[in-house]
Amino acid sequence: MDNVAEKMETPRETTLTPAETTFNDSPLMRACRREPAPYTPVWLMRQAGRYMREYREVRARASFLELCKRPDLAAEVTVTAAERLGVDAAIIFADILLIIEPMGLNLEFAKGEGPVIHNPISTARDVERLREVESVESLDYVFEAIRRTRRALRPDLPLIGFAGAPFTLASYIVEGGTSKNYIKTKTLMYADSGAWHAMMSTLARGLTKYLNAQLAAGAQLVQLFDSWVGCLSPEDYREYVLPHTRSVIAGIKPGAPVIHFGTGTAGLLELMREAGGDVIGLDWRVSLEKAWPRLGDVAVMGNLDPVALFADRKLLRAQARRILDEAGGHAGHIFNLGHGILPETPVENVIELVEAVHEMSRR
Ligand code: CP3
Repeated sequence: MDNVAEKMETPRETTLTPAETTFNDSPLMRACRREPAPYTPVWLMRQAGRYMREYREVRARASFLELCKRPDLAAEVTVTAAERLGVDAAIIFADILLIIEPMGLNLEFAKGEGPVIHNPISTARDVERLREVESVESLDYVFEAIRRTRRALRPDLPLIGFAGAPFTLASYIVEGGTSKNYIKTKTLMYADSGAWHAMMSTLARGLTKYLNAQLAAGAQLVQLFDSWVGCLSPEDYREYVLPHTRSVIAGIKPGAPVIHFGTGTAGLLELMREAGGDVIGLDWRVSLEKAWPRLGDVAVMGNLDPVALFADRKLLRAQARRILDEAGGHAGHIFNLGHGILPETPVENVIELVEAVHEMSRR
């Protein structure tokens, strides 16, 4: 981390406040802009979570939704994870589904079941009752958590805001929870494309406001999670999803980097790129080396298999090495997993991975 402190002393732009200059020169923000960095920045999706003892202790005192809605606890969990792991960014502790509450949907995290939406959207009529997110005020607890986190976080560490992408959110609100085959979602999409596009546009407008409000509250960049978009054919992605994701990304405050992430997206990468983002997030099912040329002039994030964190030190380092080699030292690589950390992951291995990435990529 010494290099970060050194770098803080090189101001880049006179129009920025000292704090902004510090963020802007961080390895993560440099990588988003495809500028050389002293080492490859690394953070991990779901870095604050059940695999970490500190999280479980806080979580024992509150339900998951309560935790999200308590800015003091959300900030604590966010900062603790980032500091403990030595990563190059913090990601605000929240959930992609929080935004559906002000849209009139009834969200619950049932024990052992994951999210449940009690009044899912099934028909065109239901789409009509979907509320427009007129103001993001009811999500103020997220913005307050961001403000608190920003105050408590090391000043050179960028804070990532995030939201679910329109398709992944649509899949939850139509299925009523997690799904395997997305039958209800795709059936609505095919059977009533008018209602589908209306729902996706409503989501997209709300998401743009929500992400910009996270930036205004103090996040330096944002990530769109399109976790389940890989279930679509390229043709369906283009027709039913791309315009909406594009409209969210196009509406983000200029200058704030956007990470556009999905899983199972080997067949969709060019289209995701077309939808936008300064950084495209890859899962481990594609080779970074082959995916990057397909994407062209954009930064990439990824793409270690989260299960590699269960292997021994030697294999973990070898896998990290391979990904760094695939990135070839080119500017614009952010090291991450190909998807979120799993709850059973040994914390020591996560710390080991972060150290290994820093050490092996130092230039
Ligand atoms: O990365 C971070 O550390 C920030 C926190 C974060 C959470 N969820 C906390 C969380 C982030 C970025 C998310 C995003 C999210 N939420 C996604 C996209 C990422 C992905 O993994 O694809 C999705 C699909 C969700 C929806 C969601 N939230 C599900 C399906 C579940 C249940 C999963 C499970 O394993 O139980 C959640 C709950 C959730 N979100 C937890 C955490 C720490 C576990 C809740 C608990 O403590 O019981």
